[in-house]
Amino acid sequence: MANQRAGILGTGHSYPEGILTNADLAKMVETSDEWITTRTGIKQRRKAAPHEYTSMFAVRAVRQAIERAKLDPSDIDLLICATVSPDQILPSTGCIIQAEIGAHNAAAMDVVAACSGFLYGVSLADSMIRTGQVRYAVVVGAEVLTQYVDYTDRQTCVLFGDGAGAAVLGPAEGNRGILASKIKSDGRYEEQLYSPGGGTRRKPSAETLAAGDHFFKMKGNELFKVAVRSMTEISRDVLEQGGSKSDDVDLFIPHQANQRITEAVADRLNVDTSKVYSNIAVHGNTSAASIPIALDECVQSKRVNEGDLVLMASFGGGVTWGAVLMRW
Ligand code: UT7
Repeated sequence: MANQRAGILGTGHSYPEGILTNADLAKMVETSDEWITTRTGIKQRRKAAPHEYTSMFAVRAVRQAIERAKLDPSDIDLLICATVSPDQILPSTGCIIQAEIGAHNAAAMDVVAACSGFLYGVSLADSMIRTGQVRYAVVVGAEVLTQYVDYTDRQTCVLFGDGAGAAVLGPAEGNRGILASKIKSDGRYEEQLYSPGGGTRRKPSAETLAAGDHFFKMKGNELFKVAVRSMTEISRDVLEQGGSKSDDVDLFIPHQANQRITEAVADRLNVDTSKVYSNIAVHGNTSAASIPIALDECVQSKRVNEGDLVLMASFGGGVTWGAVLMRW
């Protein structure tokens, strides 16, 4: 049926057992628990072991989400994996997950939109469900970012962590489901957060490896301002599109990039801090996985309940940003 609103039918998440604390980092670079806590809100992050890779966490999160949606992997028509740390270049991590879980009826792919990847995926899945092209979709944000972190660069190495979060989307009941979504990007800001080496432009070689070109480089301070501005603007846009006011929001799940970014956006939107979800202290920034991990934590802890108005907003390298407003 065309124009059927999409809702989230099940969620799941997974992360590595390994923990990297601020105290561990203070032994590696010139930093301190005090600096990291006050400047970012992060106390620890999860770190994959050398034998672990992105799809391992994605598969666990996806299986959980499908089970909780009371579906079978064969019911899934579309599988989107949002990641900037794929298992390998070819095939997509989406296809690897598809094979692993047995979602043989799905079209599978990756979406590369950094920290906005999950909301990009949700927005795409929503559109395809609305047009009747697919019935059930799973969107998973999955990252092993610690592999791309330069542990001699104190500005970036304190931020990132690993994990995966997934959501199954399908036809929503009644007035529930996605009310509005919007995604945007601006490639002119490429060098604010990027990993220059390893592709066809700067080909992998002993030189690029030695220069650390495969690591994330970031202009944190500039990115901070763009993040606050664009997340605020796009949140206002979807609120307006959905015919809602920020006062109506019951739960705000922003991308977990920095606690100060979260607070600045919530403040500009006039969303009370009691309605803002944060898990950055324990997970750090897990890029595309951050919103779906947070969402699943909210579902499992009953922080979100039927009828609640949920706003999600993200910002990431590219730069990319997006927001989704939904009635739970
Ligand atoms: O996921 C989406 C993309 N990511 C983001 O949106 C991240 C956005 N940016 C940020 O979260 C923040 O800019 C950072 C956490 C990266 C940095 O915080 P900041 O408050 O913007 O610090 P800053 O870059 O202005 O640096 C302030 C000082 C500098 O020292 P001087 O030049 O004032 O002496 C830095 O060298 O803090 C220093 N510094 C550190 N000190 C201790 C930077 N990193 C560290 C560190 N430990 N880890």
